[in-house]
Amino acid sequence: MRVPMIAGNWKMNKTPEEAVVLVNELKGLIQNTSAEVVICPTFVALGDVLKATEGSSIKVGAQNMHHQDSGAFTGEISPVFLKAMNIEYVILGHSERRQYFFEGNNEINKKLAAALKHGLKPILCVGETLEQREQGTTYDVIKEQIQKCLENLQEFNLEELIVAYEPVWAIGTGRTATKEDANEVIGFIRQQLIEVLGEKLSLNTRILYGGSVKSSNIRELMDMPEIDGALVGGASLDALEFSKIACY
Ligand code: PGA
Repeated sequence: MRVPMIAGNWKMNKTPEEAVVLVNELKGLIQNTSAEVVICPTFVALGDVLKATEGSSIKVGAQNMHHQDSGAFTGEISPVFLKAMNIEYVILGHSERRQYFFEGNNEINKKLAAALKHGLKPILCVGETLEQREQGTTYDVIKEQIQKCLENLQEFNLEELIVAYEPVWAIGTGRTATKEDANEVIGFIRQQLIEVLGEKLSLNTRILYGGSVKSSNIRELMDMPEIDGALVGGASLDALEFSKIACY
């Protein structure tokens, strides 16, 4: 059984103080949901958000991490630190990391290995750009992302891996993929996972859709058989809107 997941990616928004206000609003609003709800604030707000979520069902994730445990990597955050704080999830390979910080599949592969090694649950993001979609290479791009990012990870327990399909052209644009399109690509991702990880694991892996998810389209997306949840950006910054998504 794949438990639905609704994850909020707050990106570079909300000071620690603002983050706590948002968590407290969410705690009051998200009462009845069958989904696992995760919020991913900035690094500097993680401690306060963890405290604020105590006693609630809301879980906390980071938005990125370095693949090394420690060392001379100025400005970076190690998986060891996240684990020490009791952070449960970490988003890896978000398209904004790929686009603005030049993260490639090899780097993301190393981060996945490090996250798994330290018992963090990775949310691996994949997805094509508008140009790639228009050139008809969506499936090639995704196949390569899945294969390279998940290369040589057999030694780790991959049961907690989560994948998010986020077409880059749908992120922050208000342009959501159609439910049929998202369902079809996610079905393809599952086929790729089967090739890399085997059937048993892959049929239990949750695959989320991300890209302009809002309260008005979450229901139809969640009704699709392949879509196990959503990774929500902009709409996760508003308590009422995100709670409606979480309680779809
Ligand atoms: P969006 O972002 O919901 O604002 O489109 C999604 C994401 O980047 O994870």
